[in-house]
Amino acid sequence: MDSDPPTRFRHTPSMYILGLNAYHGDASAALVADGKLVAAIEEERLNRIKHWAGLPVLAAQACLASGDVDDLRHVAVSRNPRAHFWRKLVRAAAHTGGWRRLASRAENSIHVVRLAHSLDRLGVADLNRITVHHVEHHRAHLASAFFASPFDEAAVVSIDGFGDFTSMMWGIGRGHHISALGSVGFPHSLGLFYTAFTQYLGFPKYGDEYKMMGLAAYGEPRFLPQVRELIHITCDQIRLNLDYFTHHRSGVEMTWKAGEPVTGPVYSPKLTEVFGPAPGSGIDQRHADIAASVQAAFEECYFALLNYIHRRTGLRKLCLAGGAALNCVANGKILEQTPFRELYIQPAANDAGTSIGAALHVWHQVLGHPRSFVMRHVYFGPEYSDGQIRNELDGAGAIYDRLDEDALVDQTANALAAGKIAGWFQGRMEFGPRALGNRSILADPRRIEMKDILNRRIKHRETFRPFCPSVLAEAAGDYFTTRQPSPFMVEAHHVQPNQRSRIPAVAHADGTCRLQTVERETNPRFWKLLRRFGEITGVPVLINTSFNENEPIVNTPHEALDCFQRTNMDVLAIGSFLAYKSGQHRHSGLCVAEACG
Ligand SMILES: [Fe+2]
Repeated sequence: MDSDPPTRFRHTPSMYILGLNAYHGDASAALVADGKLVAAIEEERLNRIKHWAGLPVLAAQACLASGDVDDLRHVAVSRNPRAHFWRKLVRAAAHTGGWRRLASRAENSIHVVRLAHSLDRLGVADLNRITVHHVEHHRAHLASAFFASPFDEAAVVSIDGFGDFTSMMWGIGRGHHISALGSVGFPHSLGLFYTAFTQYLGFPKYGDEYKMMGLAAYGEPRFLPQVRELIHITCDQIRLNLDYFTHHRSGVEMTWKAGEPVTGPVYSPKLTEVFGPAPGSGIDQRHADIAASVQAAFEECYFALLNYIHRRTGLRKLCLAGGAALNCVANGKILEQTPFRELYIQPAANDAGTSIGAALHVWHQVLGHPRSFVMRHVYFGPEYSDGQIRNELDGAGAIYDRLDEDALVDQTANALAAGKIAGWFQGRMEFGPRALGNRSILADPRRIEMKDILNRRIKHRETFRPFCPSVLAEAAGDYFTTRQPSPFMVEAHHVQPNQRSRIPAVAHADGTCRLQTVERETNPRFWKLLRRFGEITGVPVLINTSFNENEPIVNTPHEALDCFQRTNMDVLAIGSFLAYKSGQHRHSGLCVAEACG
């Protein structure tokens, strides 16, 4: 099995499937042609509202614009209103606001069907030929992991907060079929357990769980006995101590604050009785210790579940998806803590990836087609030509040079080696939460002060959050304790002890990094940049953080230029152009032919 080249189809596809993640966080669309993913994008990258959770109309339009929509036959939505319908009905009858929420969900489903049947606006000629499929949320997660993996047979696990009244599902994938063998239903959830403490520690926004994971590295798990009181696992059945939670009574509400979604509180006053008052504006050692304790309890459940699934399946290969599968600290320990020997984690393990999963589920599981695709990279978003980029540069009055690829790579690598911060905007935008070398901000990891400089000049993040490295795949083993390629920044591994002093800016407090190994085949220009930086400095590693300030990752050249000009980035490598800050062109130490001539 192999993946298609990222930019063009090899042949005219006979059948398209549009996958949609609608009315969940990180709404998204994905287009599958003859079983191969050809386009995928989150709605937030287009409407510029972080984690947007409505109908992904713009994303659907963007995906369909990349194909011949007359060939669209199926729309696959990663939610199924009929899944666990009676349980939903009983809950709605028993709780305040339940009917309103159920009605809202039903209305959302109608919207999705309307979208599917209003595709004529997008140029779909024969709507009668389109079939709409509702794929249960966790079945879409499972499909996004297994059907995108290189494995013919594997255990498959999906863990998140909730989706379609379920928080965990596992099964076995064989060929083009996944058999679901176990699940955990509402109100019990490993993901929500983590969310409750994330909220308690003062991180209320949707998707903030990674902040608590970053904080945990600074603490000791001295509260582990108390945290264990909240959750336990027997076989594959996770159970919450509901005395500490409120969601089973009042649901999980999403509201909006300062343009970002905020998950309503899910923990009860008992949590503060046991762990003390929630932190106000300051985070102290006690809070870091609580975070470390929660991470430790999460890992106990995670590995207990995976070990149980290994015992049940006897398989050595594992595929993971769901928001909890973005816990890169736990993921980095799976090969140590379980008998699994090969791992594929869907890079868009969050709900965005369910648009891919729903489409692949329909192609394989519903229509019965064999496998022909592996998701080896995430470059499935929009791309822009040099002509479009030049127009933006000229329109913005930018100072820039056009360079051939070797010169662009050389100039950028030299700027980075000289301590400059570079924007790197190339090719198709990444799908999923991580910038992996096409919409990235890059810097020198050898400089211990670079983390503070990046925060002060561009990112303005909490100081306890680490920056992550990208490394030339061939050199990964020299710098990190990883035994396998790690192309998606979803696993944390230790920096080799003898290398910690060489890349101090990316080693987290616990000595780990959430690294990306970069292979020539999947991103040749970024690979060349890392190689050239290595030739100049002896270290083929770069700090790689997402190309944004406090906004969704930039998509267009216009957004990239805007972010470049409003922040304190030094240079911007965008397409074939290297742009400079006003006044820095001739004085930046960059030997640019035009400037030096
Ligand atoms: Fe999910």
